[in-house]
Amino acid sequence: MSLLLQDVRHSYALTEVLGGVGLALSPGRVLALVGPSGCGKTTLLHLCAGLLDVQEGRLDNAFANPALMFQQPRLLPWQTTADNIALGLRARGLARADARAKAHAMGAVLGLDAEALAAYPHQLSGGMQSRAALARALVLEPDLLLMDEPFAALDIGLKAQLHRLLLRHQHDKGTAVLMITHDLMEAVRLADTVLVMAAGPGRIVHLHAPAVPALARDDAMVYHDTAELLRVPAVRAAFGLDALQDPGTCSAAPGAGASIAAPAAPASTALPLPGQRLAALQPGAAPGATRKTSCG
Ligand SMILES: Nc1ncnc2c1ncn2[C@@H]1O[C@H](COP(=O)(O)OP(=O)(O)O)[C@@H](O)[C@H]1O
Ligand SMILES: [Mg+2]
Repeated sequence: MSLLLQDVRHSYALTEVLGGVGLALSPGRVLALVGPSGCGKTTLLHLCAGLLDVQEGRLDNAFANPALMFQQPRLLPWQTTADNIALGLRARGLARADARAKAHAMGAVLGLDAEALAAYPHQLSGGMQSRAALARALVLEPDLLLMDEPFAALDIGLKAQLHRLLLRHQHDKGTAVLMITHDLMEAVRLADTVLVMAAGPGRIVHLHAPAVPALARDDAMVYHDTAELLRVPAVRAAFGLDALQDPGTCSAAPGAGASIAAPAAPASTALPLPGQRLAALQPGAAPGATRKTSCG
């Protein structure tokens, strides 16, 4: 049971937005796809969710019970928070009382109190709405959770709280997660495998597999790994970082407080090419994958 993509290509009209993407996600693993805006992340996620038809390449999704979390909370304004969380359960035919009970329990796990659960979406803060959207996905106990930049609008404190709650649930339930983000540090904090995408057309240009399990990572390690990734030429190119850099200056890793010397080409640079064989994108199998052996 897994999600497998091989040489997946996608075009809108004559514009190719995905130019041969391969990846694999096994049960209980967390995979983050990180890349700049417009590189095709949402398109890729929608292909995985079956919202778009595969035009070219191979996509096998053997997960039986996937759930999708969108970039915006997308709560129904005329339903209470609890009823919004219960929506998927009701759609599955669960009785209203049972669905509500599960919704309340999951809401509580995610920090929504009775007042918030009885409120309507417009009465909730952005952070509360995100908790509700996450609860609505997790209450379905998905074996695969597909997330499209779900925390992009949150401040770092709220983001950190929801990261923790997500990771705890993911660990306890063994949920597989495919998360799309443009936030490199978020990817490094959450994922077992980080795949960096570049645009024009969208393709995977680098794989990074942190050595320490996500729940055991501390800030220092996340900053260190993020800084390490920001030294990789393919990652820098994907985000257009070098184009912004004045000659002779250094760029700082976000939050790390450290400067990075002008990027030498690390031995770890991986450049999976469009259509590259899937095996090369498995953690540990990519010849040039960055793999930390120790952390701060
Ligand atoms: N339905 C669509 N029709 C035409 N072009 C689209 C459509 N959806 C996305 N695009 C274009 O495809 C490219 C990739 O979009 P998207 O997958 O949303 O990227 P990302 O999520 O990485 O920002 C962008 O240039 C976007 O404008
Ligand atoms: Mg997107």
